Amino acid sequence: MLKPAYPYYLANRPVFANQELEVTDKYTGAIATRVAQADASAIDAGIKAAVDAEDAMRRFPPYKRQEVLMHCVGRFKERFEEISQALCIEAGKPIKDARGETTRLIDTFRCGAEEAVRLGGEVMNLEISARARGYRGMWKRVPIGPCSLISPFNFPLNLAAHKIAPAIAAGCTWVMKPASRTPIGALIIAEVLAETDLPIGAFSVLPAHRQGADLFTTDPRLKLLSFTGSPAVGWDLKARCGSKKVVLELGGNAACVVDQDQADRIDQVVERLIFGGFYQSGQSCIHVQRILIHESLYELVKDKLVAAAKALKMGDPKLEDTFIGPMISESEAKRLHDWIQRAKAAGGRLLCGGERDGAMLQATIMDQVPADQPLVCEEAFGPAVVLSSFSKWDDALCAINDSKFGLQAGLFTDNLHQAMQAWDRLEVGGVVIGDVPSWRVDNMPYGGVKDSGLGREGVRFAIEDMTEIRLLVIRDRA
Ligand code: SIN
Repeated sequence: MLKPAYPYYLANRPVFANQELEVTDKYTGAIATRVAQADASAIDAGIKAAVDAEDAMRRFPPYKRQEVLMHCVGRFKERFEEISQALCIEAGKPIKDARGETTRLIDTFRCGAEEAVRLGGEVMNLEISARARGYRGMWKRVPIGPCSLISPFNFPLNLAAHKIAPAIAAGCTWVMKPASRTPIGALIIAEVLAETDLPIGAFSVLPAHRQGADLFTTDPRLKLLSFTGSPAVGWDLKARCGSKKVVLELGGNAACVVDQDQADRIDQVVERLIFGGFYQSGQSCIHVQRILIHESLYELVKDKLVAAAKALKMGDPKLEDTFIGPMISESEAKRLHDWIQRAKAAGGRLLCGGERDGAMLQATIMDQVPADQPLVCEEAFGPAVVLSSFSKWDDALCAINDSKFGLQAGLFTDNLHQAMQAWDRLEVGGVVIGDVPSWRVDNMPYGGVKDSGLGREGVRFAIEDMTEIRLLVIRDRA
């Protein structure tokens, strides 16, 4: 359940402001709550506090960072249903998916707690030539400094957690701008963090409209920008962020291959493809957008996918059996509906779905869509998938790589040789064999190549970006 109003968090403390952002129930469109909106001076104050707290946070010992993160784990467990219901309202996420995300939020903080006490380094042999005789080396990781964290609307809890938990584990202070359409998840995390003894100034969570939030990108006091969101926005921020280190988790048009050896388990494969294509209305960077089916199975898989997609229950995300809820906004649903119309006009065949009512868009499957259509080559980020067939494995791999994106790919094949070939050759951040590209667990390295981004999340890997290597050299006395 949502409270009537939420503060923002400035230097660990709740602040109610005169300006507010309205947060709607994404299914009904009604205003569900209001949150305090940060202006440029509040953001400036948050950054100043993060700079002032840098030293205290660096000296806040790893076991204390672990205690903070474990406090969050405990509180999220206690507040599990309340948090899931809030997520269901603010994001329009079907309640089952919302509970899944809360479970992952807990996992991500638990991983952060584990990693907080694992930060280490290495003793190195420097005596690689005569001139280095008597020199010893060792390095350790030190916090990079105040971080700017910008999180997206599609996983308001867990993609915020993927920035917050590693920052705390690494000993960094941070300021976060959550997505203005779904700020509640990050504010609940802040509410729980405010119960801990993190050094004052260690964190601020400041909802703001993008236009008023340039300091998150441009302020030189911030040493790292970690952004998850659309490719267009991400690359623009990178161009404007000066000398900061940058981590970008951007979009994709993930492909999934069904090989000829899958005939004996086709129902299982179809079930996973339907999940990957349509969970949370396809609003995930790794939702299945392109399905490549071996020609020998094409008709069978196509018919089963269409039957299963037609059977998906669409409607109120608060109902336990709803699979497809609203997209984040009517304008996003219109945008994707328009792409479907364009694909049809270009010769594509609509196999099911394609109808829109407000922000609700039916689960849509098409085939025979030309490769230059946005529905194929851009990021759909909605409940639409495109089928095509292949005859040779090599052609399927080339088709996956024929994309400006490269986040994850899924391949249903039992052929180990082909699986290894895919791992070697696919231009993506992750290859999933035996499941859809939408599969993710929160400790694995996650991120993309090409237009899909820079760097990796997955707690341990995010910590690498949030720390610098500092070397120590000792010369023996002669
Ligand atoms: C994303 O949309 O990039 C996140 C997907 C996930 O965490 O499952």
